[in-house]
Amino acid sequence: MKLILNSPLDMHLHLRDGEMLKNVTPLTSDNYSAALVMPNLTPPITTKETLFKYRDEILALSSENFKPYMSLFFQKDYNYEFLKELKDEILVVKLYPAGATTNSESGVVNFNIEELRPTLEAMSELEIPLSIHGESDGFFLDREAEFIPVYEKLAEAFPKLKIIMEHISSKEAVKILDKHENLYASITLHHILYTFDDVAGGKLNPHLFCKPVLKREKDRRAILKLALNAHPKVMFGSDSAPHSQEAKEGALGAAGVFTAPVTLQALAELFEKHNKLDNLQKFVSNNAKKIYNITPPQKEVVLVKEKFSVPKLYGNIVPILAGQELSWSIESVK
Ligand code: NCD
Ligand code: ZN
Repeated sequence: MKLILNSPLDMHLHLRDGEMLKNVTPLTSDNYSAALVMPNLTPPITTKETLFKYRDEILALSSENFKPYMSLFFQKDYNYEFLKELKDEILVVKLYPAGATTNSESGVVNFNIEELRPTLEAMSELEIPLSIHGESDGFFLDREAEFIPVYEKLAEAFPKLKIIMEHISSKEAVKILDKHENLYASITLHHILYTFDDVAGGKLNPHLFCKPVLKREKDRRAILKLALNAHPKVMFGSDSAPHSQEAKEGALGAAGVFTAPVTLQALAELFEKHNKLDNLQKFVSNNAKKIYNITPPQKEVVLVKEKFSVPKLYGNIVPILAGQELSWSIESVK
């Protein structure tokens, strides 16, 4: 049994820099046609120079026929001219609330619309989508739900601006998706496979600890349903976020789940289990192409129903499903 995916896309990916960049870039570029690369380096990507340098580094490490779609780290003083110059070099501007997650310290402190208006109006006019890590600073399980009014306020204030709710994790986010024409969402593998019980309900599993945290079963089911049905306003974005084994397993473990090398195989298994394999092409490619209006490189990835043993480590990074067996593997890529 085979499954052919055309130009699979990962629309939310962390590649880091330095050694980590070298280790993880091929794991995505081998099996994906393109990916949207997040800008939360230290310091974050906020200038033309750092953006171009990062893009070139990624290209130099990528396998052939792979396009890194780049992003800028949101700042409220980006002006129209600056964004216009970079419009063709970026796919989104990514907004982080200050301190919400890894390397987001210089994010937005105050969601007062008037303060954000100059940048958001310029983006809206230039048709640059806004990608958001939507979490409040409240109790950890409620952070996404508490951020919903901000999503709605932004969607209403800038009706022409495409807004992507990244890595949605709650039923509350699912609920507003169809309420506003300009709201879209990315969905990770881990948020449709697991709940917070898998993180802390038994023995502590730091490798599933991420932001936004995995939530309750009813949240998982609501997001899973969107993914399985390939709802046209959702797309796959792994949020694969590598940290070293030491950083994950030590005290004060870092947030982020490393999923890149197993996402397609695990998605095939999950979609097959729910009898929805026919929708996977839309979820991992077609929907994003329409939402972002992009034409990524042609790449055909053939999956086959043969066992794949997930390695326990990729270098010094522990992947999701480490040491477990999946029922699909990647047979060839061309
Ligand atoms: C991400 C990271 O490590 O960069 N961590 C995470 O838990 N998802 C940042 C992010 O996307 O929130
Ligand atoms: Zn992320």
